[in-house]
Amino acid sequence: MPSVFIKTYGCQMNERDSEAVAAQLVAKGYTLAPTEAVADVVLLNTCSVRDFAEKKAIGKMQNLAADVRKNRPNVVLGFMGCMAQSRGQELIDKLPDVDLVLGTQKFHHAADYLDEILAGRRDKIVDVAEERGSEATIREHLLYGNADRNGDGHRPPLQVTAYVSIMQGCNQRCTFCIVPDTRGEERSRGIADIVAECRQLVAQGVKEITLLGQIVTSYGKRGFGRAELPLGQDAQQRVPTKEKSPFVQLLDAVHEIEGLERIRFTSPHPKGYGDDLIEAYARLPKLVESAHLPVQSGSDRVLKLMHRGYTRERFLGLVKKLRRVRPDIGITTDIIVGFPGETEDDFEQTLSLAREVEFDNAYLFKYSPRRDTPAAEMPDQVPLKIREERNHRLLDTINEIGRRKYDAFVGRRTQILVEGPSRKNPARMTGRTRCNKIVVFEGSERHRGQLLDVKITRAGSFTLYGDPAILGED
Ligand code: 5AD
Repeated sequence: MPSVFIKTYGCQMNERDSEAVAAQLVAKGYTLAPTEAVADVVLLNTCSVRDFAEKKAIGKMQNLAADVRKNRPNVVLGFMGCMAQSRGQELIDKLPDVDLVLGTQKFHHAADYLDEILAGRRDKIVDVAEERGSEATIREHLLYGNADRNGDGHRPPLQVTAYVSIMQGCNQRCTFCIVPDTRGEERSRGIADIVAECRQLVAQGVKEITLLGQIVTSYGKRGFGRAELPLGQDAQQRVPTKEKSPFVQLLDAVHEIEGLERIRFTSPHPKGYGDDLIEAYARLPKLVESAHLPVQSGSDRVLKLMHRGYTRERFLGLVKKLRRVRPDIGITTDIIVGFPGETEDDFEQTLSLAREVEFDNAYLFKYSPRRDTPAAEMPDQVPLKIREERNHRLLDTINEIGRRKYDAFVGRRTQILVEGPSRKNPARMTGRTRCNKIVVFEGSERHRGQLLDVKITRAGSFTLYGDPAILGED
């Protein structure tokens, strides 16, 4: 059977889509190649959020194509995901060695299309159409890695944590963002369907689930996809009510799963944090004290131009409310620097917001004009040099705050969920605190999947080092 290598760019949703495609292919008999150099099929799962991400994937494909043309002409090359969706046929016109272009509503067709190409029945396939019900097709998992096919279900899985896709698309239309075009309209899976997938994962040994979507706080707001209706009794019983948003109803339902230890979710929209969600943090112990709150800017003027739907004050109010119910909550964010029209004064408001909130970490993005987005046409585009300079200054601030926040953990005891060997040093194990900080410690495979109390001995750059705490010792 052929082997496949999937390289993923971009966000956790993309990681999840790649995993589902890999699992579908493994179920069909494919093996997972350890590197692209020995694979029969190489798929690049792409990101369009910034021009840089697109350039990287195109550069990678150019290199692959050159190698394949010269040395391994039978290898199948494909683009999938966001850039495949937004560029379609154009990608094959530009890179004629590419055989497959698979859009974001078509991941579940990967195996069939590859079969056809490998069997020589079809030459090139481009499928970037909309597909009703596709939001419910990202469901297969690869808990046992390459050995999945032979998995007997009794060994502890390699994955202690799993991602579950709950919705697709975004209707928010922030003026900088290409995602509504690449991911389409918001479509949500039904609660019963999601819970069934979570239950199955937990039955296989998964301890932590991260609910995923482009804008999870909008989950179910536009009703549920038609594909869910046959399964929908449960979904129908849980008719969204005014007091409890569908997302909080989903959290309640997942929380009931016995054996599940922790629930996370990403990405929410700050605007979607109603009081019912804040109250859920107080009410649901499995919902860990961690929130990724993409603020984008600290200036009201820029937030308005971005079409974010909240003010600086409202964002600060939200942080305050969350800290009131969970004082130890870890808060991370996304920030765009150099949005069109951003002045030095606007930027300083972002710096001051970062200091005021004291984010545990922040992902910084230099503004990148995207096709067919309103911001790309706005006046006063900020020169690259200034975007870079602001990015640098903000990064210094974020690092300084992070250092302080991480240092404050030294000497404290905290619970971690052990995920597996550290990537940097496989002789060590890593886990995460409930507030989503990585902890590296001297441990062994037997710790995998355990909830472990550790004492933090040292803080590195956005990493903590710990010792498994011995009972009674302080
Ligand atoms: N330029 C720069 N950053 C962007 N993001 C989204 N669109 C753009 C863009 N055009 C960032 C936002 C978002 C994160 C995933 O990517 O901060 O939260």
